[in-house]
Amino acid sequence: MIATEQLKGRDFLCLSDFTKEEILYLLELAAKLKEEQKQGIAHPLLAGKTLGMIFDKASTRTRVSFEVGMYQLGGTALFMSGRDLQIGRGEPIPDTAQVLSRYLDGIMIRTFSDAMVQELADYASIPIINGLTDMQHPCQVMADFQTILEQRGKLEGLKMAYVGDGNNMVHSLMIGAAKVGMHISVASPEGYQPDAGVTEMTRRFAAETGSQVVVTADPREAVAGADIIYTDVWASMGQEEEQQERIQKFNGFEVNEALLQSAKPDYVFMHCLPAHRGEEVAAEIIDGSHSVVFDQAENRLHAQKAILVATMR
Ligand code: CP
Ligand code: NVA
Repeated sequence: MIATEQLKGRDFLCLSDFTKEEILYLLELAAKLKEEQKQGIAHPLLAGKTLGMIFDKASTRTRVSFEVGMYQLGGTALFMSGRDLQIGRGEPIPDTAQVLSRYLDGIMIRTFSDAMVQELADYASIPIINGLTDMQHPCQVMADFQTILEQRGKLEGLKMAYVGDGNNMVHSLMIGAAKVGMHISVASPEGYQPDAGVTEMTRRFAAETGSQVVVTADPREAVAGADIIYTDVWASMGQEEEQQERIQKFNGFEVNEALLQSAKPDYVFMHCLPAHRGEEVAAEIIDGSHSVVFDQAENRLHAQKAILVATMR
């Protein structure tokens, strides 16, 4: 049983900072908030509170779901483009963190540098939530786990196969999977595999929960017997100029019918979106009957409301 106090005031930067019990508690809270929202039961748990949202990269889901989430919780969200803040002109992060802490009750930030987010968290006296960095995307994984629970009723013991770039998305999926005891097999071309430090950390968590972690360059090996198939774009935000080169390098890594022959017959297909049909995933898969991508997108709202309530109340 997680005491409410345990998560209050905490940052949400990386799933490595949370125990399995804390992750499961947040997912339970997310399901409860979703149910209440569907039934029209108001839950103004953050009445009078303001979340600041700093964006240095584009966003549809993150921006809208955090803003709507705060509204549904009785609070307010404030959009700030990093370009227009004084940080964009060189104001130090420690000063920005201390100033914003005087106005706001929490900050969600989407930016490039994980070190910058850590510095913001070190100097702010309010919770900092990682809304995507070059290395992590933990809020997406909470929504993904909520979706998997809805589909399968459990996380532990399932096998997830991630086919594609060893990016922020897979880093958070690996850490999350290892924390909750889900097996994860990652297939990426040589040179595009997940960060070695993240893989090592994942293996340490996996040793505690019995989760199996495989990193391979063979998509067929990863997909065999998988319950969940996950992919993401080959060129993430900030890598646009590598797009053409990556299309060559990722040849053979498209998630399509032929590749999924060896997955479990009732596999679930997942993608954080935005997607490129005909690159990392064939249209027949992402638009097919196994796909739950819009449930994932919806659950961003509910899962993040749980994070906001737990950390900012
Ligand atoms: N999946 C996700 O984070 O989407 P946005 O980039 O639209 O926020
Ligand atoms: N890996 C992608 C995820 C977008 C939600 C990116 O960082 O652009």
